[in-house]
Amino acid sequence: MARDYVADNLATPRLDHLFPNMAEFDRSVTTWPWLRRDIDHPYRADRRNPIVGFINRDEASILTASARLFAGRAGLEIGAWRGWSTAHLISSGLGSLHVVEPLLADPDWRAEFEAVVRAAGGEATTILVPEPSPAAVTRLGQSGARWSFAFIDGDHDGEAPARDALACLPYLEPTAMVLFHDLVSPHVAQGLRAMERAGWSVMAYQTAQMVGVAWRGDVAPVAHRPDPEQTWSVPDHLRGIAIAGVAGA
Ligand SMILES: C[S@@+](CC[C@H](N)C(=O)[O-])C[C@H]1O[C@@H](n2cnc3c(N)ncnc32)[C@H](O)[C@@H]1O
Repeated sequence: MARDYVADNLATPRLDHLFPNMAEFDRSVTTWPWLRRDIDHPYRADRRNPIVGFINRDEASILTASARLFAGRAGLEIGAWRGWSTAHLISSGLGSLHVVEPLLADPDWRAEFEAVVRAAGGEATTILVPEPSPAAVTRLGQSGARWSFAFIDGDHDGEAPARDALACLPYLEPTAMVLFHDLVSPHVAQGLRAMERAGWSVMAYQTAQMVGVAWRGDVAPVAHRPDPEQTWSVPDHLRGIAIAGVAGA
């Protein structure tokens, strides 16, 4: 049976009770070509739309610890789905959090999402933006928003992840960090590569779907040891990118 993994130096907040429709599914519910089926960590999703997966606990622990490095500072999330990753970002203590998610334009979706934000303790700090990126990011940036931390898990297709990264770039603080989920997808990896080309340091975390991190300034990415019980591989499109906790990778 699949078991959750969280590295010894990391932890996840207790947030499951905020997601009564979260359940474990077999990965066969989705045919997304970039979903790794050989990593034996639980795949969780909302019962109402099981084909859209939540970040797993390993990934959530990395996200939470990374955002915590910027406690009190401004954060941005692109692609929030039902608020699972959002709740983790709130728990990390960011000073403010813009959540760019077009589904929030639906009143029922938004009402449920707002309840999650409230229960996670983020009512005063979370700003819901019911618009698509990258246009919303540019609009916010042009209105004066600046971010120290960004989590990109929105449109995964084609040029979209690179466009999201490039949209964030002009509005990121001198010390900042950007995390990408689903680096197993070559399209998402283009987002990380765009940051690398812009002079940022980059690294990958070996998790079920892989997490990318780009950072600059006076900060270092959180340490992570990949689950020693899994057999890991590195997709060709990540060649040359260091893997956290893996010597010489
Ligand atoms: C995989 S889900 C995010 C899952 C979420 N991070 C979690 O783990 O709980 C991807 C989300 O990106 C959103 N999305 C798609 N296109 C987008 C865009 N252009 N701008 C912002 N979000 C977008 C989708 O509506 C969906 O909610």
